[in-house]
Amino acid sequence: MPKIFSPGRINIIGEHTDYSYGYVMPMAINLGNYLEYVPYDKISLRSDAYNEEIELDLSMINKKQNKWIDYILGIYNALFELNLKPGGIKGRIYGNLPISSGLSSSASLELAILVALNNSYNLKLNKLQLALIGKKAENDFVGVPSGILDQFAVTFGKKGFAIFLDTETLSYEYIPFPKDISVIVYNTGVKRELAKTGYADRKKIVEDSLRILNKNSSKEIIEKDLEKLDPLYRKRMGYIIRENNRVINAKEALKKNNLELLGKLLIESHNDIAKNYEVSSKELDFIVETSMKYGALGARLTGAGFGGSAIILALRDKAEKIAESVHKEYIKVFEYKSFYNIVESNDGANIIEN
Ligand code: GLA
Repeated sequence: MPKIFSPGRINIIGEHTDYSYGYVMPMAINLGNYLEYVPYDKISLRSDAYNEEIELDLSMINKKQNKWIDYILGIYNALFELNLKPGGIKGRIYGNLPISSGLSSSASLELAILVALNNSYNLKLNKLQLALIGKKAENDFVGVPSGILDQFAVTFGKKGFAIFLDTETLSYEYIPFPKDISVIVYNTGVKRELAKTGYADRKKIVEDSLRILNKNSSKEIIEKDLEKLDPLYRKRMGYIIRENNRVINAKEALKKNNLELLGKLLIESHNDIAKNYEVSSKELDFIVETSMKYGALGARLTGAGFGGSAIILALRDKAEKIAESVHKEYIKVFEYKSFYNIVESNDGANIIEN
């Protein structure tokens, strides 16, 4: 029976820059979704995470169910729109990627199905097409107005590397990720309730600003341009142009193995997004501050913010101790069901057994 592994992702730096076509630097991780499946004449899937089995006729693909299966229906819709008409699938989805925690569980699910359909129905889609179809499913069917960050990372991930991506041209570079650094993902346990409105709100400001300044991408905006914007817009866009620069600097820091500089850029990124983009939370700020107190190299929120997870970079031999100490302090102050994982980089969604 074919088996797919589709990873989640962290974003090392370059947050909320993808919907203004700026720079990002994500990494696929070894937490993700497995899909074991056989081709079938219907869509018949079981999700262990949701403890639910759903069977639908292929004629039902455009009927939104307001459930996890919508990510899969979204993929079918996007494929049908392209005049690709794969048959059905029967299988089971399970794994170790926490849902709604800022680690792209939705993109992971979308790409798991896409890779399966591409494999079994000979769709001949390349990686970039897979990532773009995943994004289309998320935007058009599920209705989340996200950028390309998540689907690109989940598709193009490579073990041992972070991905430096220009989200305008979609040109990318694999940057070796130092072997002596561990990445701790600390999940706040806070449900991301504000995420939907908060995200759309930020996106509108960014799109309006690009229009007002007559630019295609935030990469083209310089500090002086900001004078033409109202104060709130100036504040938000100021963060974005500084963040784009930090992604470039982080790429250079990684290439030179300058871990101190990398850590410093992460902290700057977090403080800036908290103060000027206002998508952090007191829990995320607490994790960042506390991890630095215990000797982390750097830390910041990862993903959309508003709860979710923070990443903490630490030297490998110190990581477990730092993670434990942060956890102890966190549960003294907050009552959420928080937890952490020390993750590794991973390949993108692919077939692991055929
Ligand atoms: C979510 C979206 C991405 C990106 C991040 C913030 O993960 O899906 O497209 O905008 O938030 O960097």
